[in-house]
Amino acid sequence: MSLEMINVDLTYKKHQELIIDNASLMIQPGELVVIRGESGSGKSTLLACIAGILKPKSGKVKWKNNSIYDLADKALSELHKREISYVPQTNIFLQECDILENIFWFAGDNMVNENKKEEALKILKELNVEKHYNRFPRELSGGELKRVSIARAVFKHPEVLIVDEPTTGLDINTGEKVMKYLSAYAKAGNIVIIASHDSLVSKYSKKQYCLNGHKVLHEGYN
Ligand SMILES: Nc1ncnc2c1ncn2[C@@H]1O[C@H](COP(=O)(O)OP(=O)(O)OP(=O)(O)O)[C@@H](O)[C@H]1O
Ligand SMILES: [Mg+2]
Repeated sequence: MSLEMINVDLTYKKHQELIIDNASLMIQPGELVVIRGESGSGKSTLLACIAGILKPKSGKVKWKNNSIYDLADKALSELHKREISYVPQTNIFLQECDILENIFWFAGDNMVNENKKEEALKILKELNVEKHYNRFPRELSGGELKRVSIARAVFKHPEVLIVDEPTTGLDINTGEKVMKYLSAYAKAGNIVIIASHDSLVSKYSKKQYCLNGHKVLHEGYN
């Protein structure tokens, strides 16, 4: 099922400036797409609009015959639990819970489910952060927390995985490992959408969009 954004305009209430100007995108299952652009160009804003976290003043995001801005809060929150998972640029964790508890809480479980614990540990291992599973977020580095955030989103098996700056704070080898993981996740038939200005990320995407003066330009294929 493809994900489509149609003619989205976004203005933050505080400032009247148009941050996203008439953005349209079409993404198919199996694609890993990168949104590029300078700092402040609107990449994170665009990702939040795709995820339905921000509701723009006009335009649509179509997913499985639904227009996600028209969904009621409960339906949207179900969508975020199962189908569309969003990893924000800033790492957000429950500080009083350990990493495993954070992973389950984010998936909608109040406590760690012993039957699914192995699976969570396996995903953490694939991103090289399994040894931190019983530590608290404050005990991890920024790059480790980013990888845990990705693992936490993947644990929900979303058909659409949206990741803001996946390689921030990572050395080249670790960044490559994360990108190979996300690339494999897309190749398994999912949609992966990434915002980044890291050149390492670009080589993993066939399709790229660039934000330029608030316009989204389709840059074509690698
Ligand atoms: N909550 C907000 N309220 C008002 N303005 C905002 C808000 N969030 C972002 N902006 C403004 O919108 C513009 C786009 O911000 P955004 O975070 O989307 O950029 P970005 O391309 O992701 O930047 P970076 O590469 O630094 O992460 C910036 O000018 C920013 O100051
Ligand atoms: Mg950003």
